[in-house]
Amino acid sequence: MLKILLLGNETLKKTAEPVKDIDQDLREYTQQMLRAMKSGRGIGLAAPQVGRLERFFVCQVEDDEPRVFINPEIIRTSPDEVIYEEGCLSIPNLWANVKRPSAISIQAWNEKGRPFTLDAEGILARVIQHEFDHLNGILFVDRLSETQRKRLIEQFEKRMRM
Ligand code: NI
Repeated sequence: MLKILLLGNETLKKTAEPVKDIDQDLREYTQQMLRAMKSGRGIGLAAPQVGRLERFFVCQVEDDEPRVFINPEIIRTSPDEVIYEEGCLSIPNLWANVKRPSAISIQAWNEKGRPFTLDAEGILARVIQHEFDHLNGILFVDRLSETQRKRLIEQFEKRMRM
């Protein structure tokens, strides 16, 4: 099982590099990521979270099929924003309200190497934006106020010591 890196690991702060080849190795890796994601009861997981600094992530929302986004670009964000509670497998068992655009359009390649564009709203738009942030070294705590971030990080560190 792939090991998920936790808050404090420097890799999580780094910008990931574009994927060069969408091949069998990458396909198998996305399957392993989906397994790690599900075993942690997550709905999304980005490659940097398992120590692979490349631009791809996986997600699966509710009864939807699993989705793979390789070299994604968010090409449109809605002007209206919504507040939604987020968590992260790299910051287990802690959640906070984060404000983000309610809808987005994303362009990416799937695991078969086919390009696609997807318009997403609701929880899918939320997961995509959260995972996309991971590719740029951004965690959801970085989107909170200074006070909220400090409080959450303190809670995380306290739990890690227990
Ligand atoms: Ni996350």
